[in-house]
Amino acid sequence: MERLTGSESAGMRRFPKGFLWGTGTSSYQVEGGVAEDGRGLSIWDVFSHRHGSTYRGDTGDVACDSYHRFDQDLKLIRELGIGAYRFSVSWPRIQPDGRGPVNQRGLDYYRRMVAGLREAGVLPVLTVYHWDLPQALEQTGGWAARETAERLGELAAILGAELGSDVGAWITINEPQQSAHQGYRIGTHAPGRRDLAAAAAATHHLMLGHARALGALRASIPAGVPVGTTLDPQPYIPLDGESELAAAVMDADFNRMYLDPLCGRGYPDLARAEMLPDERLIAEGDMDAISAPIDFLGINYYRPHHLRRGDWNDLRLGEAPLPGFEGVVEYFDPEQPCTTMGWPIVPEGLTELLLNVHRQTGGVPLYITENGCAADDYPTSGGLVEDGDRIEYLRAHLAAALAAIDAGVDLRGYFYWSLMDNFEWALGYRYRFGLFYVDFATQVRTPKRSASWYAQVARTGCLPPAGAEARSGVAVASSVDGSVCRQG
Ligand code: FCB
Repeated sequence: MERLTGSESAGMRRFPKGFLWGTGTSSYQVEGGVAEDGRGLSIWDVFSHRHGSTYRGDTGDVACDSYHRFDQDLKLIRELGIGAYRFSVSWPRIQPDGRGPVNQRGLDYYRRMVAGLREAGVLPVLTVYHWDLPQALEQTGGWAARETAERLGELAAILGAELGSDVGAWITINEPQQSAHQGYRIGTHAPGRRDLAAAAAATHHLMLGHARALGALRASIPAGVPVGTTLDPQPYIPLDGESELAAAVMDADFNRMYLDPLCGRGYPDLARAEMLPDERLIAEGDMDAISAPIDFLGINYYRPHHLRRGDWNDLRLGEAPLPGFEGVVEYFDPEQPCTTMGWPIVPEGLTELLLNVHRQTGGVPLYITENGCAADDYPTSGGLVEDGDRIEYLRAHLAAALAAIDAGVDLRGYFYWSLMDNFEWALGYRYRFGLFYVDFATQVRTPKRSASWYAQVARTGCLPPAGAEARSGVAVASSVDGSVCRQG
């Protein structure tokens, strides 16, 4: 960490040189254009059209219409002046049935996107799989079938060969935990299955899919272009002795289940039996392939879970039962600030998590590939979107990231989720995460105040002190003055 300058010691903090600033989206959440240019169906098309699956029946049919408006979105990215943009490809745009020949028109969309980003001096960071599996592959078993992992390898090989010279960094899979759990165990995400065995099988096949994509990319992209993957380890924090074991088991079930095999430790023994992939699904060589070295690990962080002793038959304010653990509840402190989605805001959880992952991975370079805040944003009559709460969320989490760097974590970048408001999966358009406000009726994008705040931080690499935002509506822009920060 660099020496603090005069202005930094007065509250301004600086990120290390070369720290990568970015933001991100994913294909189904922003693209729309679902029936265009030969695109096939994805599991999210089918799921979101199923009655009762999403908030108000919202779908991604149009979303932010980025399939037709990427040029406009590129302008937003340019306005931010950030170094990197993370996006994912819609698999059924490239291979409508998830296998076989390439749909050239679909591929061309990403080719233009990557070229546009490069021209704008923005590093394209491509996520191969962010949840929109071709429906045709779901019909042959989806992630519960081993075949799907092989098909992801095929997709990665296509992308590597076609876009390999321009993509700046690759992420194989986004949050496999959510795909297995929400998609196959509890059915709240596509494909909406509720099948314990299928979910445990999906866990292994998603990890194998990562391995196959990694191998295919290593074989098809230029040496030196980094390949990694993204996990969303959610801290489980025991608030008393009685909840310690439950926290450790939850950590094994949902976090170590993905991190441990990547690190060569296999699936964790402490996990509950029904969460563990059946041994018979694990073929010779699978675990070695899954633990092949990656160049970085992406971490998505939104919130931790607090656990404490509690009586399921007599739940108190802020308590929710923790399925599988009698006598322990998840606790939401009514005093604890939370986002409009009800997620507790605990920035120090990010520091802890980064330190923990740093230790568990033996120091693999880390990026925060997602972190963000849902808020009830609306444009004022003057056309402004005043999202001071998001700025405060951002500031606090960036300070937490700096604390991890100070403590020795090799953290190389931060991607705010998201560039713009978009289709928040089963929650439809109810929650807004964007730096840009999207009017979904007109598709007009309006910068929120957080966009200019983040742009200043990204441009200067400096974090303004807490409270600067609250004191005055314009204080942040003037207090994040690069020339001041660069002194010393
Ligand atoms: C993450 C997803 C991302 C977005 C955020 C809010 O779990 O990866 O697509 O929906 O949550």
